[in-house]
Amino acid sequence: METYPFPRPGRDLPDALASAEGARPVALRSGGVAWLLTARGDARAALASAHASADPRRDGYPFLAPGGRVLRARRSLLRVDDPEHAQLRRALAPAFTPSAAAAARAAVARRLRALVAPLAPAGAGDLVADLASPAAAGALCDLLGFPAADQVLFTRLTHLLGSHATPEPVKADAEAALADYVRAAMRASAGNGLVARLVRRGDVDPAGLAGSVQTLITAGFETVAAQTAWALLELCEDPALADRLRRDRTQIPVFVETSLAANTVIHHGITRAATAAIALPSATLAPGEGIIVALPAVNRDPAAPAGRHLAFGYGAHQCLGRHLARVQVAAGVEAVLASLPGLRLAEEATALTYTTGEGVIGPAALPAAWDRP
Ligand code: HEM
Repeated sequence: METYPFPRPGRDLPDALASAEGARPVALRSGGVAWLLTARGDARAALASAHASADPRRDGYPFLAPGGRVLRARRSLLRVDDPEHAQLRRALAPAFTPSAAAAARAAVARRLRALVAPLAPAGAGDLVADLASPAAAGALCDLLGFPAADQVLFTRLTHLLGSHATPEPVKADAEAALADYVRAAMRASAGNGLVARLVRRGDVDPAGLAGSVQTLITAGFETVAAQTAWALLELCEDPALADRLRRDRTQIPVFVETSLAANTVIHHGITRAATAAIALPSATLAPGEGIIVALPAVNRDPAAPAGRHLAFGYGAHQCLGRHLARVQVAAGVEAVLASLPGLRLAEEATALTYTTGEGVIGPAALPAAWDRP
């Protein structure tokens, strides 16, 4: 039996994930066996099922990386089922509507322009360290109401928590530090950031709220940074695409969707445990069996309708931040197109490295060059 996660040497998907097939059992590096789903139909059926639990305490829940104990401990909307999930999601949802994302657009774009401005005269830079990463971290601070200086702390902690190379005890310490940070932020809550608004509501279980704020940090930063970096890499590699988008900016959202499908950052996939039999198009899963939805494979399923992807998941836990994420990636593309003409890679594409050992994959750095004004 193949062992999962499959090794991913770089940008390309491992061959074993390259085609959508029926559900198949895989051995987990962390021990045990789970069903690997690579076809869109199976993925949707599993993620829509009321019997697919997101709770890591359930029998058979598959752990893809060391740190399962840490994952088990955090009470957050991402890792609980209804009714607790619905309650936490209801509390957070008003901050993540399409209109809330649209309202954030101007501030997001302003930050991107401010980050790009000093880059333009330099003629070269790393579009991950200089742009994608600080833009994502800054937007998250704005959303949550955290001081901008705290980016350094949560950038470090989310990296430790997201990396498969982090030993479990170090992960536990990072999780404890993040929990302390969030609790302190909740105690100090002032202003009109999301955390302060949630604390003022006072009707949400504080432990679930704190865990969910931790999830906003771990789910909403590296994902956006990596997705923005992928989109910028595509622009560096394809000047004709960059020119087309420059001429017709209304196509940028379409490009963002294509990029989400082609460069799916949650590359090991979404995990669930079956709590009762689940009938999928290609197999029937038994209670107590683990489920892994391999999103990159699902998003390349030739049976998928054009332009449709599950990069943000599907079903009850579908990404809460997806509207905001789209705004952020599009703003990154806009800012670069507007201010960095002649954008190109500063190194051979083959020299680029990727964060293959992490839950979120993207270019580790994006050395680029452009024409000086
Ligand atoms: C391109 C960027 C992003 C990608 C690709 C992404 C992807 C995903 C995926 C695949 C899930 C589903 C996980 C599952 O079903 O187990 C998810 C859930 C979630 N995401 Fe995102 N995400 C992104 C950005 C964001 C942002 C910006 C935020 C908020 C600031 C966010 C907050 C969340 C939350 C809170 C959940 C859990 C929702 C629930 O359990 O009900 N994400 N995301």
